[in-house]
Parts: sequence; structure tokens; C-alpha cells
Amino acid sequence: MIAVAKDLPPVIRAMRQADVAAVAAIESDTYEFPWSAGIFRDCLLAGYTNVVLDRDGEIVGYGIMSVAAGEAHLLNICVAGALRRQGIGRALLGYLLRRAQTLRAQRMFLEVRPSNESAINMYRQAGFETLGVREGYYKARDGSEDAVVLVYHFD
Ligand SMILES: CC(C)(COP(=O)(O)OP(=O)(O)OC[C@H]1O[C@@H](n2cnc3c(N)ncnc32)[C@H](O)[C@@H]1OP(=O)(O)O)[C@@H](O)C(=O)NCCC(=O)NCCS
Repeated sequence: MIAVAKDLPPVIRAMRQADVAAVAAIESDTYEFPWSAGIFRDCLLAGYTNVVLDRDGEIVGYGIMSVAAGEAHLLNICVAGALRRQGIGRALLGYLLRRAQTLRAQRMFLEVRPSNESAINMYRQAGFETLGVREGYYKARDGSEDAVVLVYHFD
């Protein structure tokens, strides 16, 4: 008899084209101005570090980062709404920080809405510091919203 693997441990792995629909579904459930599936496909084509957290075949979170010239930029990180506050975001962020360091980044930058308390707490807990503010960076219902720029120093 062939054993069927059940309840496989969660794994962070490279995002594939076949994952894009599931990733875009989490994205559109989360954000008022979500990235389209096409943007995720472009990220795959661009060769960014694109990862998903796969729990027994189900995608429950993802992260996207670019690394060039010693600088990493965290472009997106998101966890399925029903599964937040279980350590998945921290696991994805930790993975991306380790990957950036392996790719010899000296710093990681990211933008976050000042109203996004959960994410800001997560970044601060991981060691990010405030670098400044980008005015009018995000689309908002009544125009735009500033972004807080955070930085993590590897050295
Ligand atoms: C931000 C996000 C990725 C965090 O993922 P998560 O799996 O829920 O977070 P974790 O369970 O790993 O928590 C890590 C830390 O984040 C902070 N945090 C997470 N959720 C929080 C909440 N609801 N309130 C306050 N702090 C929170 C805490 O510091 C937490 O550490 P603690 O549990 O020891 O207190 C998730 O909330 C999310 O997907 N949000 C929508 C997308 C988004 O805003 N992405 C960031 C864009 S810049």
C-alpha cells in the first residue's frame, strides 16, 4: 500500500506561475488597491525573490523582494486573512532577510502605510528602523497616502 503524506510541515518555497491565481486571490482579499495577477507574473519574469508559504499544498502567504547592488527592497509580504497572527508573516520576513544577506545585501528597505500597525510592529520586532517618509506614495480613496520608509542594516 502506498502511504499518502498528510499534514506536511509548512514550507517556504519559490513561487511558480501555477501559484499566481492563489497569490492574487489573497492579495485582492487583503488590499483595497491590490496588485493584479499580471504584476505577480511580471515579478516572476523579473527574477525577483518570489516565495510562498505552502501549508500542505495550500498557499497561505507570500513575499516578494528585489536585490541589486547591495540593496534589498521588500516589495510585498502578505498572509491570508484567516491565518494571521500565527507567525507566518514573521517566518516569511525572516526567510527574506536571510536570503537578502546571502545575496550580499547591506540593507533592506521597505515602504509601509503609517496606518498599518500590524506590519509596522512586525518590522520593528525584526529590527527595522525608520528612515523617512515618502509623500503621496500610496493610492488612497481620497487621493494618496504617505509611506513610512523603514530600513534594516545587515552590518
Ligand atoms: C503584516 C502581516 C504580513 C503580518 O503577518 P502575520 O502572520 O499576521 O504576523 P505574525 O503572526 O508573524 O506576527 C509577527 C509580529 O507582527 C506584529 N503583529 C502581527 N499582527 C498584529 C496585530 N494584529 N496587531 C499588532 N501587531 C501585530 C506583532 O509584533 C507580531 O509579533 P507577536 O505576535 O510576537 O506580538 C499580516 O498582518 C498581513 O498580511 N497584513 C496585510 C498585508 C500587509 O499589510 N502587508 C505589509 C505591507 S507593508
